[in-house]
Amino acid sequence: MKILVFTEKPFAPAAVKAIADVINASGNDMELVERGTRADLLNAVKDAEGLIVRSDVIDAEVMEAAPKLKVIVRAGAGYDNIDLQAATNHGICVMNTPGQNSNAVAELVFGMIVMMCRNQYNGTSGSELKGKSLGIYAFGQVGRNVARIAKGFGMKIQALDVFVSDEVMEAEGVTPVHDVNELFSQNDFVSLHIPATPQTRNSIGYDLVMKMPKNGVLVNTARKEVIDEEGLKKALEERPDLRYVSDIKPAAAEEFEKLFASRVFFTPKKMGAQTAEANFNAGVAAAEQSIAYLKDGWNKFQVNK
Ligand code: 3PG
Repeated sequence: MKILVFTEKPFAPAAVKAIADVINASGNDMELVERGTRADLLNAVKDAEGLIVRSDVIDAEVMEAAPKLKVIVRAGAGYDNIDLQAATNHGICVMNTPGQNSNAVAELVFGMIVMMCRNQYNGTSGSELKGKSLGIYAFGQVGRNVARIAKGFGMKIQALDVFVSDEVMEAEGVTPVHDVNELFSQNDFVSLHIPATPQTRNSIGYDLVMKMPKNGVLVNTARKEVIDEEGLKKALEERPDLRYVSDIKPAAAEEFEKLFASRVFFTPKKMGAQTAEANFNAGVAAAEQSIAYLKDGWNKFQVNK
């Protein structure tokens, strides 16, 4: 059977080799398309039974072009790039690989925080993290890794997640909060880890950001869709002390950079999960999950049940 690995943003070469080894050892064939176009995807998927992707958009058109497709594995956590309803309609199982790239994303949170607190290394006097407070919005795999690292910096940590009990947070040395307004008003830094869903889209805007304490920094390694860009822009205009760092460029990135200069920072391309380790872990997990599903219907991480 053919498993297509289609990644507009390629995995590290060592991860690609490991993925190929896993697929070949199972008796299946891998086709690799890196930096491919939409046309390349529609062509390559025609005879694929399995499909491994990252943030690549997999919609009904792709599934219609893939009559043999049985399983799609998103090598990563967020699956908002995949049309789950279309997959269900086509009888295709969709899985993600939870946790496999979460440390990489969490480390980037601090990479961007430290850079912003040191004034993007412009030689002026910055500030430290020790003793400052961090609010983690969603306490899943990435949020928990963020908390673990924050402890090392000596930060005070709060988290909000309606799906996680207070006991679980307290066991990690994190103070639970139950109101998003409190999370924003009580923390010097707020780090977003919510998925992009109809409920969370545009949910972080003017009112919340304006609640942040003086010199607050909002950190986004989640999705750009969760930000209400107009609201954030207004808040940054009214509060010259506030800063925003993001691993996902806003749609109006150039305008933000022009208006707010060194108070904002955006990675050129989503880089949170772009480490050799995360590529290896997520890629190999995706290969193993695809094979297990094709072999005997293993679907532990199915997201379109
Ligand atoms: C994820 O959802 O796993 C992260 O956002 C990483 O996405 P990427 O594979 O596109 O880098």
